[in-house]
Amino acid sequence: MKETVVSGIRPTGKLHLGNYFGAVTNFVKMQYDYNCFFFIADLHSLTTHPTPQDLHGYVRHVLVEYLACGIDPEQSTIYIQSDVPEVTELYLYLNMIAYLGELERSTSFKDKIRSQPDNVNAGLLTYPALMAADILLHKATKVPVGKDQEQHLEMTRTFGNRFNRLYNAEYFPEPFAFNYSENLVKVPGLDGKGKMSKSEGDISCIYLADTAEVIRKKVSRAVTDGGPITENQSKPEAVQNLFDLMKIVSSADTLAHFDSLYNGMAIRYGDFKKQLAEDMIVFNSPIRERIEALSEDNTYLAKVAKRGAEKAKESAQKTIKEVRSLIGFKSF
Ligand code: TRP
Repeated sequence: MKETVVSGIRPTGKLHLGNYFGAVTNFVKMQYDYNCFFFIADLHSLTTHPTPQDLHGYVRHVLVEYLACGIDPEQSTIYIQSDVPEVTELYLYLNMIAYLGELERSTSFKDKIRSQPDNVNAGLLTYPALMAADILLHKATKVPVGKDQEQHLEMTRTFGNRFNRLYNAEYFPEPFAFNYSENLVKVPGLDGKGKMSKSEGDISCIYLADTAEVIRKKVSRAVTDGGPITENQSKPEAVQNLFDLMKIVSSADTLAHFDSLYNGMAIRYGDFKKQLAEDMIVFNSPIRERIEALSEDNTYLAKVAKRGAEKAKESAQKTIKEVRSLIGFKSF
């Protein structure tokens, strides 16, 4: 039997090239090897009180973009968390065995206290219990997440094991972070420092939905320097970053061409950026076209969401039924 994979996607905004090479390509690969559940974590996003319009818009965006990137609803189960309310029932049971002290010690909670001191709600405190419910609901053993989620996974194992001990059953398996970072492609940003990240602002990011015009503009404004001053010198970070991006989207010949211009001190950043922008446009355009087509196709999106919810519910209802019985809820 295939192992079960669960991952939640926060509906926060548009996907950029960094997300694509980080999480998304791995989700796409995984769906052929595992029994995958990918869900859009709209319940989690309520901690920040989005407006109803924003909430729906974000969820729709994420659904469209993940489908456009190649998540196949026939291969994996893609669903919207709030369509499967069984998760909230499991969340309640886990809240009964999650201790205040351990929830308060979670680094993500401590970060939130700092970043949103005016909205330290109980949902933030029990975020790890909801995340554990997402994972345990399908009895997943593998969770493809980044390093920042390690602690949440550890808490998930703690809650699952505690439940097992309390009810004297070998019920929930232990889920572990699925580490695919060895073969991660490093995607730097356009702002001259570090990786592509939304927290650095839109100028750092090329979004999958960016049009040709937007891409040209962003790349033309990318940070460089005054140019090489000796032959074969090493490249400063900002310039190396653009070369790294070119490595991802351009042909090996193109990369070698500009590399040798740089080494011979003959590079013109204007030409270099133009080529990079055009190659990014070619790389992005099939995905962008699918995003545009899917955005128009509400019938298809509705069908995918409905089918996903049905498949997720089947798994969720089985777990909830067994959990209720273990807890001791009995009908007369
Ligand atoms: N906490 C995750 C994040 O911030 C999102 C998430 C919610 C999740 N539930 C999950 C990830 C379950 C994996 C499994 O990115």
